[in-house]
Amino acid sequence: MTLRGRFITVEGTEGVGKTTNLEYVRQWLQQRGIPFVATREPGGTPLAEQIRELLLAPRPEPVDPTAELLLIFAARAQHLRQVILPALEQGTWVLCDRFTDATFAYQGGGRQMDRDAIASLETLVQGSLRPDAVILLDVPVEVGLARARGRGALDRFEQEDVEFFQRVRAAYRQRARQYPGYHLVDAAADLAQVQQRLDRVLTELYRQWRP
Ligand code: TMP
Repeated sequence: MTLRGRFITVEGTEGVGKTTNLEYVRQWLQQRGIPFVATREPGGTPLAEQIRELLLAPRPEPVDPTAELLLIFAARAQHLRQVILPALEQGTWVLCDRFTDATFAYQGGGRQMDRDAIASLETLVQGSLRPDAVILLDVPVEVGLARARGRGALDRFEQEDVEFFQRVRAAYRQRARQYPGYHLVDAAADLAQVQQRLDRVLTELYRQWRP
């Protein structure tokens, strides 16, 4: 199987500006006539979107971390087979709002689940597929939470405490130091600077692309 499209994911804790920056990337690709699909996790297919609703809904019953982890990978398996792999095989780029790095950060860091267990599920579901570029938007947790919490009703993850998000952020930052495909972007900088950085990342991916 040859994957000809590029696979870009955008990551970060709550309130880092994912929506604005995803829109910038989307326009960048559109302006160059690069075929792409924009999608998200958990979600991206009707079944996976239903799993997303199950995951995000606040509920009185405590959610077992392993149940949460398996639901996330169930949604991911469906999303990969239905959307991501077919697109990449055709030479279409995939721009995904979160992917498995979020699992290492939220379930591994936030919920303190075993990283090796997550890595095993990653291999089971994805084989050797990994994003070509992970754009990690990084801001201090307090700044992001203040933004996110101004938006209205909180989902099950947004209801977690500051320490949870500090562990999530630390796990993301550690992965950024560990893996070469990561681009850690200081999203507290002004928007023009953030977008200049995104522009450099995308230009490099585009330069290496052989459709
Ligand atoms: P969103 O707020 O970016 O739409 O993402 C929904 C929530 O799902 C977010 O709080 C992070 C969480 N999440 C995980 O905990 N693990 C994952 O693997 C993914 C993709 C998301």
